[in-house]
Amino acid sequence: MIELRDVTKTFAGKACVTALSGITLTIRDGELVAVMGPSGSGKSTLLNLMGGLDVPTTGSVIVAGKDLAKESEKNRSLFRRSTVSYIFQAYHLMPTLTASRNVALPLHLAGVFRREAEEMAAAALRSVGLAERAGHLPDELSGGERQRVAIARALVTGAPLLLADEPTGNLDSARGKEILDLLVSIHRERDVTIVMVTHDPDAASICERRIELRDGRVEGDTRG
Ligand SMILES: Nc1ncnc2c1ncn2[C@@H]1O[C@H](COP(=O)(O)OP(=O)(O)OP(=O)(O)O)[C@@H](O)[C@H]1O
Ligand SMILES: [Mg+2]
Repeated sequence: MIELRDVTKTFAGKACVTALSGITLTIRDGELVAVMGPSGSGKSTLLNLMGGLDVPTTGSVIVAGKDLAKESEKNRSLFRRSTVSYIFQAYHLMPTLTASRNVALPLHLAGVFRREAEEMAAAALRSVGLAERAGHLPDELSGGERQRVAIARALVTGAPLLLADEPTGNLDSARGKEILDLLVSIHRERDVTIVMVTHDPDAASICERRIELRDGRVEGDTRG
């Protein structure tokens, strides 16, 4: 699903920062992978490259057979829509849209007709246990519920790659556990590859594989 070869990423600016320095790794279809490491070690940068949100400075990032650095911005945007869904620590829901409308949004962007999009959104909300909250605005939901809406939105398009950047970071441990259980059951039930950045040892321990970053390099890569 994902192949990185000698990937480096530097940010030019007042001070030039090397966020990733020489990453080579392969993530197979259907893996559930945790990315760990201290703050500033390059975890989010790595995820952004995998999701085609950014391109490497050198090296190649091949996702679902596409060499992302070689694609135009337009093609990368099409790639993101068809292949990747993202879950963020801060949910990133549209505050003026109901849960149902938030979930349907990527379908509208993909040109799905409204009626069908609404039905798919309702099914996705049911699958995360939030059928009764479909008409609520984000600020009428708890943190854990908001994250479940974000997960429903990530699932609704059927994208084969799910990238999660500290999905439990804003939640207390009980709510965080629910979100992790949900991600594990999604992984079990659907044909989806999940890469999850986390600081939480419990979250990492449920993953089949843990990649440890330090100073922009892979310091550890363990399975089981
Ligand atoms: N857009 C940017 N411009 C300049 N520097 C950046 C940019 N994005 C990230 N960096 C730098 O790159 C390094 C890696 O950042 P990254 O966000 O990937 O870390 P992280 O491992 O996700 O950290 P955290 O656990 O705090 O989220 C950091 O030193 C950061 O300051
Ligand atoms: Mg980060």
